[in-house]
Amino acid sequence: MVVGLEYTTNRADWQRNCTSSGIRVYWVVSEVKQINEPVATRGSAYQRVHAWLLARENSRYASIMAPRKRALFADLEGTILELGPGGGHNFRFFSPTVHWIGIEPNSCTHPYLRAQAAREGISAEIRPGRAEEIPAPDGMVDAVIGTLVLCSVSDPQRVLREILRVLKPGGTFAFIEHVAAPEETGMRMVQRMIRPIWKAIAGGCHPDRETWHLLERAGFEDLTIDHFKVSVAFIAPHIAGLGTKPRRPSP
Ligand SMILES: C[S@@+](CC[C@H](N)C(=O)[O-])C[C@H]1O[C@@H](n2cnc3c(N)ncnc32)[C@H](O)[C@@H]1O
Repeated sequence: MVVGLEYTTNRADWQRNCTSSGIRVYWVVSEVKQINEPVATRGSAYQRVHAWLLARENSRYASIMAPRKRALFADLEGTILELGPGGGHNFRFFSPTVHWIGIEPNSCTHPYLRAQAAREGISAEIRPGRAEEIPAPDGMVDAVIGTLVLCSVSDPQRVLREILRVLKPGGTFAFIEHVAAPEETGMRMVQRMIRPIWKAIAGGCHPDRETWHLLERAGFEDLTIDHFKVSVAFIAPHIAGLGTKPRRPSP
């Protein structure tokens, strides 16, 4: 592992690296991508560390997910609202013509998000708030996306209601989530045992949510849910898919 701290007086270099201070922190770990660091300044120490970790991208996981993200996100147009964007690793999959709104309660991630959006040339707006109470009017957005976020929110059913509220009729919800392993398996037992400590260290993440059941009952039309596994310890089971907000309200 190589860690470095670099100071530059070259303003063009600052701008290229999207930092305001001229200080660039870098390191190289075999699995983790090198990042030019915007410095997060507010929030609790926990939030700052969590934001810093979220800005790291595991290159193996990212390369496994890339084809799925491309398939789910590339055709989305108009105004896209992303819940819990974290370090902003989804920007590269969006069309450059979209207007992106991020709802991210950890304000220490915001500098990372702005930097990533600028790097990918995406028009971006960050709204403080939570997915349980999305700060947007009814029927405002063309698409909502969430990756690894329904595991972390405190009330996923309320979040799904909020997603349907802010989507335009016919709008799309695109998601990728890690989920509970099948009941009675060793993996499920491990997920259950590790839940309290994992929630505490991983920003409220529940390793054993049966999120697909919640999606099936939420009221989306044309719901597709693909179950697959990624070899990442006790959060291997994943789902990915799309749902559509009905064009007509249900009777
Ligand atoms: C595991 S991270 C995933 C980050 C990113 N979506 C990704 O795929 O790399 C979960 C994210 O959800 C955010 N989050 C947690 N609770 C939330 C809530 N109630 N509403 C919106 N975002 C939330 C966290 O701050 C964090 O950025």
